[in-house]
Amino acid sequence: MFPGSEIYGGLANSWDYGPLGVELKNNIKNLWWKNFVHQRDNMVGIDAALIMNPKVWEASGHLKEFSDPLVECKKCHARYRADQMPEKCEECGKKEFTAAKQFNLMLKTFLGPAEDSSTTAYLRGEIAQSMFVNFKNVLDTARIKIPFGIASQGKAFRNEITPGNFIFRTREFNLMEFEYFVKEQEWEQHFEYWRKEMLAWMELIGLDMKKVHENDIAKDELAHYSKKTIDFEFDYPFGKKELYGLAYRTDFDLKNHMEKSGQDLQYTDAETNEKFTPHVIEPTFGLDRSLLAVLLSSYEEEGERVVLKLKPSLAPYKVAVFPLLKNKPELVKKAQEIYQDLKKDFTATWDDRGNIGKRYYSQDEIGTPLAITCDFQTLEDQTVTVRDRDTMKQERVAIENLRTFLNEKINSYN
Ligand code: GAP
Repeated sequence: MFPGSEIYGGLANSWDYGPLGVELKNNIKNLWWKNFVHQRDNMVGIDAALIMNPKVWEASGHLKEFSDPLVECKKCHARYRADQMPEKCEECGKKEFTAAKQFNLMLKTFLGPAEDSSTTAYLRGEIAQSMFVNFKNVLDTARIKIPFGIASQGKAFRNEITPGNFIFRTREFNLMEFEYFVKEQEWEQHFEYWRKEMLAWMELIGLDMKKVHENDIAKDELAHYSKKTIDFEFDYPFGKKELYGLAYRTDFDLKNHMEKSGQDLQYTDAETNEKFTPHVIEPTFGLDRSLLAVLLSSYEEEGERVVLKLKPSLAPYKVAVFPLLKNKPELVKKAQEIYQDLKKDFTATWDDRGNIGKRYYSQDEIGTPLAITCDFQTLEDQTVTVRDRDTMKQERVAIENLRTFLNEKINSYN
């Protein structure tokens, strides 16, 4: 990762993903989608606009008192006008507030050439609202029955007062989230199911589970819409802090949007004809925090060797291909043939610099699980060596079997 806008001195707390970072980030995103959407029967996705009708944010409460000097509760981030500050937070009871500041968490912009209140719009402060406002569209088009989920991934923007700790808290960040719509009387069983599935996901991406903690938010500290919330926390080098959240949001959002939009957002059970407002379980996953926790869980130093023990499904490159020697055209030609062929199916990288040991080490450092070397024996018997990142063992494999071999190796880690 690079500091954002670095050649102009950067922009505080903005970060750009580089060539390897973007691969790791995309791999986490794609694995999440596979795990929570594609591999399930009752989950569908949407990809919504980042700029929504400001009425959405009025209805959700995000715009409340947005142009006044505000203080923010240090615990639950509830905001109050400085001149109407309660003695203690009305949401969580905490008595600590930030200093008064003219701020709103919503990032404002203007649509079109005029800059006035009629053209004011906001970059979305959370992606959840896009799932709620599309609830009816999805219901009418996707032939799904309760319980079901609507998933989405994408950027959210918050004018955070205290960003920092690298990519932990930034003003624009990536979220992966779903709203799971259930019958009210069944919320507890679904909550418990998703709690376990969230833990299984953390194992799937290779998090050090000793560093993961569940924080069952006390009843008097819950957000006003939630009846139960669990924060999954992680031991970052800067302390134990939130990684993911799991909330029972009741029917708060759908009811709110129904009232403010005047639209019917109820669900009708096709068998019983019963009409009701679904209740919602919301598992939410910060993508940037996932990546940070993955890196912190994978980084190891073994003497001189630095190794990133990433799950192969997440590794930026699945395989590296080397000619034993750079100055032997016949080795380079053969290795290039293998490399170009494997690139069709695997994210692969090429290296012909320096000695072979250094090349292995530089792949270890970026988490490449397998490295193929083309040597003189390759020219005679059409086999190559494949070296394993974690065991450092090498074995000879026939070129024609490489695809199967790589697939087996890569999947066997998961
Ligand atoms: N719809 C619920 C929601 O947005 P949240 O706890 O405000 O919940 C969800 O945010 C997740 O987004 C958090 O669990 C965290 O992983 C991530 N997150 C929140 N604020 C962030 C920030 N400023 N920078 C990076 N990630 C953030």
